[in-house]
Amino acid sequence: MKKILLSSFCLSLILTAGIYGNGQNEGMLDIGLAMPETHVERWQNDGASLVEEATAKGYKAEVAFGDADQSKQNQQIQDFITKGAKLLVIGSVNEGVGSVVSDAAREGIEVIAYDRLIVNSADYDYYITFDNFKVGQFQGKGIVEGLKLDSATQTKYITLFAGSPTDNNANFFFDGAMSVLKPYIESGVLKVVGPAPMSSMDKSNFTKIATENWRADVAKARMENLLNNDAKDVVLDAVLAPNDTLARAIIEACMTDAKYDSTEKLPVVTGQDGEVASVKYIRDGKQYMTVFKDTRQLAKAAILLADAIIKDQTPNIPGARMDTTSYNTGKKVVKSFLLEPIMVTKDNYKKVFIDSGYYSADELQ
Ligand code: BGC
Repeated sequence: MKKILLSSFCLSLILTAGIYGNGQNEGMLDIGLAMPETHVERWQNDGASLVEEATAKGYKAEVAFGDADQSKQNQQIQDFITKGAKLLVIGSVNEGVGSVVSDAAREGIEVIAYDRLIVNSADYDYYITFDNFKVGQFQGKGIVEGLKLDSATQTKYITLFAGSPTDNNANFFFDGAMSVLKPYIESGVLKVVGPAPMSSMDKSNFTKIATENWRADVAKARMENLLNNDAKDVVLDAVLAPNDTLARAIIEACMTDAKYDSTEKLPVVTGQDGEVASVKYIRDGKQYMTVFKDTRQLAKAAILLADAIIKDQTPNIPGARMDTTSYNTGKKVVKSFLLEPIMVTKDNYKKVFIDSGYYSADELQ
């Protein structure tokens, strides 16, 4: 075993040193997997599952994480191209990835946009994701249920947060949530404190509630600011938070304010991803809900799609709904495959996370 390790180590040194000359790196890689960041936990799981699925199908695969830095991610993708990748699976940082997607297209390399649509590009054909509008609808539903809005006799107060302004998914999450909340806002049962876009199309207000690069510190600072200003004279009943990382940052900010400094006093806070710390918060009653998007399932589906594309076969992805009309990059409509998200509250977290083997009971201790 040692000998094998040593010889493959030497071989990779030789190849990296370019002793075989230009172009000889080709064939080192079949599938390049570019993930946007690691500060949101899910992407590490996505990366690991994608490598596992691709390797199980006999492909040479490599994953790289872009640290929310588009020029870094573009460099990583260029490296995959240099290594001879036949196909790229890209969870993009932002639309700046378009230039390397064009380079890939020129070389005949197929690209699958993974989880996030690559906007403003006409240079790829496939997109695989979860039904992101539904993710938002579940968040809206969580607020309606958590605040018992259908039987509420007094006005409830909510403040709104959205994801990264450069992530197309952030629009879908927000619009899905608002499709559920808008009637309650219009009837006056629910009142928005702070900026109040009714849709992601209202860019001037949406920008005010968006969270640059999905950063927890940005959301925490904005929440602290809200508590001291717009929300100074009210008690917030709910916060629309687009994912678990931001939900916990918002909860942390609330806990420093005497109005919300115990579990019972916290507002109803939504989330998404099923991060382990948030599942514990849900169990303990600190976070109201999350939306689970099984990264194992998405990775498996993406590699099934990749395999079909590489072999020039018709993709058959169990559990995915094909949509050939809704996802327009701004330059073309891409063939999309949508998986089903799951709404999770205290009532079903055990069934969803432990029974499915996503987390062990120990991990949730
Ligand atoms: C993903 C979410 C994730 C967020 C931040 C979105 O594009 O769909 O699952 O929480 O990015 O990484």
